[in-house]
Amino acid sequence: MNEKKIILGIETSCDETAVSIIEEDKNGKIKILSNVVSSQFDIHKEFGGVVPELAARSHVEKIDLIAKKAIKKSGIGLKNITAIASTSGPGLIVCLTVGLNFGKALSASLNIPFIGVNHLEGHALSPKLITNLDFPYLLLLISGGHTQYLSVYGLGKYKRLGTTIDDALGEAFDKTAKLLGIEFPGGPKLENFAKKGDPNRFKLPKPIINKGGCNLSFAGLKTAILRIANTIKSKQEKFDLAASFQKTIEEILEVKTQNAFNQFKKIETKKKIFVIAGGVAANKGIRKRLIKVCKNNGFKPIFPDPELCGDNAAMIALVGLEKFKIKNFDNLDLPASPRLALDEKAKFLKGAGVKL
Ligand code: KG4
Ligand code: ZN
Repeated sequence: MNEKKIILGIETSCDETAVSIIEEDKNGKIKILSNVVSSQFDIHKEFGGVVPELAARSHVEKIDLIAKKAIKKSGIGLKNITAIASTSGPGLIVCLTVGLNFGKALSASLNIPFIGVNHLEGHALSPKLITNLDFPYLLLLISGGHTQYLSVYGLGKYKRLGTTIDDALGEAFDKTAKLLGIEFPGGPKLENFAKKGDPNRFKLPKPIINKGGCNLSFAGLKTAILRIANTIKSKQEKFDLAASFQKTIEEILEVKTQNAFNQFKKIETKKKIFVIAGGVAANKGIRKRLIKVCKNNGFKPIFPDPELCGDNAAMIALVGLEKFKIKNFDNLDLPASPRLALDEKAKFLKGAGVKL
């Protein structure tokens, strides 16, 4: 029997159609054989955000082609694939369904196991694609839909330490970018704007900075940006506002990460590993700032490679691989779950009147 495990991962939870094939050899070494990601920026940019029905239609049109590309690039024949893993949630239900159904059909036709994957767990474990990573570790997940600090104890074992009580960090970047006239998705471009500006030009609020432990809030920041953006006349002022926003975010993350370290150290005394994952983890200024906080606190920072920070299917295949090893397979009637969480026991902390 072939001791190698080869997993085909599929990701269609939002606006990326992605297929990847990864391999684990008999010594446990993981290799990404292919990792094809097709983004839909052009489809959604005129609307300033993702339109679910358009996204789903594009997934349907592209999934077959992207899968063929990933298989060809990997150099692996379909008959050598060990299992299929598809994102089952969280995400847009019409989009999740496309990748889920494609994965189920592939697994049925190849007669191999099918595994549903929590997209957030893909981000959480993504550094394992490039480095050996022992549990437990502290995780900061910063993406377009989520912003959370979690203790990670193992596959499926998470304890949330803090969360955003309103917007996700990626959302704050995208909304600020939009107010500055930057095309969707603005996060990465806003970082470039910031490099050309004066970070001390505008003073922006840091909501709940002195309370709520490592819970976060970005909604007040957005309102302040809106007010200033309405008064801005020159391109230089736009750069200055972007730089001030970037600096404020770094300062918020510095304080909240320090709080998260203190909480994590109460639970875990031996290991001090801090993983930063999700699309916003590609931000160079945030990386630099968090590396500094780690240095000051004796934590080892681990970031996935920038191309593995954003949505991709290699991270989905990776979780599929871990679940395959413990025979955690799913039936072909597994539904899409738009609201999956990592820590199912954590309290819902959003909206007006939330108590911290
Ligand atoms: O993890 P991801 O690809 O998708 C979700 O699961 O949400 O994250 C996408 C988010 C978007 O909001 C995008 O603007 C943001 O990550 N992002 C960035 C950067 N690169 C991506 N935000 C700030 N700086 C960046 N360099
Ligand atoms: Zn994501």
